[in-house]
Order: sequence, then structure tokens, then C-alpha cells
Amino acid sequence: AKTVYAGAFVHSISLTELEICENGAIGVDEAGVIQFIERNGSEEWKEKEGWQSAKVVRLDGKGFFFPGFIDTHTHAPQHPNTGLFGKTTLLDWLSTYTFPLEASLSSLPKAHRIYTNFVSRTLSNGTTTCAYYATRHVPATNLLSSICLARGQRALVGRVCMDSLSPEYYRDASIDSAVADSRACVEYTRSIDPTGAIVRPIITPRFAPSCTAPCLAALGALARETHSYIQTHVSENTSEIQLVAQLFPESKSYTDVYDTANLLTEKTILAHAIHLSKQERDTIRARGAKISHCPASNTALTSGCCRVRQLLDEGLTVGLGTDVSGGFSPSILEQVRQAIWTSRFVAMGDPSAGAADGKAKLSTAEALFLATRGGAQVVGLADSVGGFEVGKEWDAQMVTLGEGVADGAGEGQVDVDAFEVGGTSTALLESTNVDVFGWESSEELVEKWVYSGDDRNCAAVWVRGRLVHKRNDVVL
Ligand code: GUN
Ligand code: FE
Repeated sequence: AKTVYAGAFVHSISLTELEICENGAIGVDEAGVIQFIERNGSEEWKEKEGWQSAKVVRLDGKGFFFPGFIDTHTHAPQHPNTGLFGKTTLLDWLSTYTFPLEASLSSLPKAHRIYTNFVSRTLSNGTTTCAYYATRHVPATNLLSSICLARGQRALVGRVCMDSLSPEYYRDASIDSAVADSRACVEYTRSIDPTGAIVRPIITPRFAPSCTAPCLAALGALARETHSYIQTHVSENTSEIQLVAQLFPESKSYTDVYDTANLLTEKTILAHAIHLSKQERDTIRARGAKISHCPASNTALTSGCCRVRQLLDEGLTVGLGTDVSGGFSPSILEQVRQAIWTSRFVAMGDPSAGAADGKAKLSTAEALFLATRGGAQVVGLADSVGGFEVGKEWDAQMVTLGEGVADGAGEGQVDVDAFEVGGTSTALLESTNVDVFGWESSEELVEKWVYSGDDRNCAAVWVRGRLVHKRNDVVL
């Protein structure tokens, strides 16, 4: 049915500017496409032919509709390892924690449990589009595509290719089998969603050290032949960069390894991109490849502080990635905070890298842009999602603030017993993580959401107009 989303809405209108509309109405048709946007309490839509009987979803109380988040890089099979990294850095983290877990997804029931849970977790955190690494396994990778399609989350799903330097128990046996298995996953994903509206395949060489040069070249050719997206990791960690230089002595740089294999295209997503040279950044821009900034992961694995301001100033396209389980959170809102934090460390100056750079600081508006419009550019969906405009699709989350989670947690109810020992559970249920008093400006409400919000504030989520998540207590 046609639906009108009434109430406040917030979205990015440029890198530096948020539009905050306190009293709006957004009309979405049966296909999930935005047909009109009214501002300032206008209710002209009530006179519009065909809209009189539209369903109205009204956001009362504090909160706003916000575009769905776009996670441009994460690893679904690694979710059970969340929080496990200790003092490792990338290469020993991979062999200690990551490869054993990923290998275990040869078990389809295990993959089903992990993937169902992780897709639920990303949806409940407001992620409407997600670029997923799966594992090497064809059946489990196809299962992830099926789960995303069934749950209605837009997804790029990639079978991981790794024919080199990986443990015996977890590697592709040959280039031919790596390509054949990847092709099988491309074909499967295309068969279940021929238009690609919800799920699309993405060719996924794990990273240069786990692939031979001929394998990378074969994957570049497969991507070209099948017009597929490509994702990989680049320039994450200094030991990794040295390893790439050793493994590919004829290459000019890490980036050049991928360029030589025709893996840098307008549909390529490069995760991390922390330690790139100017020449590498120029190559990436020239090829139109995109960057996924993964700030929580970069700090967890002490990979480095990505200079996002520099990337943006040079005209590169940047989105945010959770990079679970290098990153410890499936939430893009958490990455918004982490991106701002990392930019502040850059601004305060890295003693080894020279002067502090105040311009490096990302504003809240800029980080929210990366989480939505920037991410949409990275995944090639800027025409359809990332902001609210007529003709775009309704990929959105309903953010609610200042309300207790339990029913009856309204104003004026003071349950003294709840504060006594033994009665704390009621107090906990009725507490609120974003405490709104009413004096805040709309801009300040957004700041409070960014710094103290989480999935409790994500009341409902839609993709192409379809409700794909709803908090238990919410009635729409
Ligand atoms: N480089 C190669 N594989 C991985 C991975 O699984 N996570 C991260 N963060 N970097 C990688
Ligand atoms: Fe990653």
C-alpha cells in the first residue's frame, strides 16, 4: 500500500550539511519509491489523487526518520569472534582467530546460525545495505545470499578467494577451482534475484597476500566478464604491506598489484586504505575505485589512523565499514563515532607523522554523510538510496529518543519500589540511553543520538518500503 511517513526527518544534503525537518511527510508508493516530500507541517498530500487512503506511519515524540545505514565492508562469518583480538595485529590475528572460525563454516547448519543472527544484528542496527565477505564455501555463501534476500536487506555477497599462503585446511585448491566456485556464487545470487534489487554478487579476492598473481588476474577477468562488483583489502597494516612487496617484487605498490590484475574498477570497494602513497591514491581515483573506512577495526588491530580528510580532499569516494570482527561492533552508528574519534587523533597529531592537523577533524554531519550518502556512492547505489529525495527508494530507519523501552514508561510515573534492591529490573527497563529533556535543539538531538544511541533507538527499519525490522515494543 501507499504509505506516508509523518514526523521529523534528518538526512545529509551535502558532505557538511544535514537537513533537519521537524515536521515532514514523505510519501512512498507500492514499489517503495518516494513520490513526494512535504515540509513545515504541510498536509497537501491529503488532497493528492490516490493518497487519501494511504497508511500513515506517524513518529510521535522525540525522534526522526533517518536514511538506512550502509555498511561498505564486513565479514559475516566472523561475528562469533567479536571482541577477540587481544594484542594481535592483522597477520597473527588472521591465523590465530579468523581462519579457524571461517573454516568451520563448511558446516551449513553452523553457517545458518551465524548468518541468520548476523543479518538480524545488522538490520536491528539500521543497516539497510551491507557489503559482505562470506567464506570460501559455496553452499554457505549462497545461504548468506538467500538469507539477505529473504530478510530484505540489500547486500553484496562475496565468496572469499584465497589460493596462497593460507593454511592447508582453509585455502582454494587451485586457480581453476577458485574461479569456478566464485562463478557458481555469482550465478546463484543472480538466479535468486535476477534484477539485483536486493542481493548482488561481488568478486572477493581476500587480499593480495592470500592470492597468487594469476589468481588475481583470473578474478579480474571474471569480474569483467560477469559485470560484477569487486571487494578486497588494501594497505591495512605495515607488515602486510612489506609482505606484499616481497610477494610481488615486480609491482610498484600494493595498489599496483590489484591494478595489474584489472581489479580496480568503478565497482571496486577497497577496505582500510590507511597507508597509501599519493601515487596509489591517484591510481585509485583514476580507476574510480571506492574506499571503505573501517575505524573501529583499524584501532582494534592497531593498523593505523586513516586520514579520511585527505582522501576526501583528493576527491576519493569514502564510506564506512564495520569490518567485523576486526571491528567489534555491527553498528554503523558506532563507526560514525569511531570515524570522528580517529579523525581527532589525526587532528591532535601523530608524533611520528609530524604536525597536528586541525582540519582533519570530521564533524558529526560529515561522519553521518559517510554512513549514508558516501556509503551509497561506494556500493554504486547513489541514485536510489542514501538520502530522502523524490525518486529514491525508502531505505530508512525510525530513530526514537528519550523513551523507555518498556510500555508505561511515560512521564509522571515514579515507581519508588523500582529503586530498591530487588526492584532494579523495572528501573533498568524504564531507563533511557538517550536522555531527552526538551531543551535540546534538533541539531543537539542528533548529536545526542550519535554519541549515546544504539540499537535501542532503532525502532523500525525499511528497505524499498518493506518493513525489515521492528523493535518488539513498537506498534506501527
Ligand atoms: N585482510 C585479509 N583478511 C582480512 C580480514 O578478514 N579482516 C581484515 N580486517 N583484514 C583482512
Ligand atoms: Fe575486512
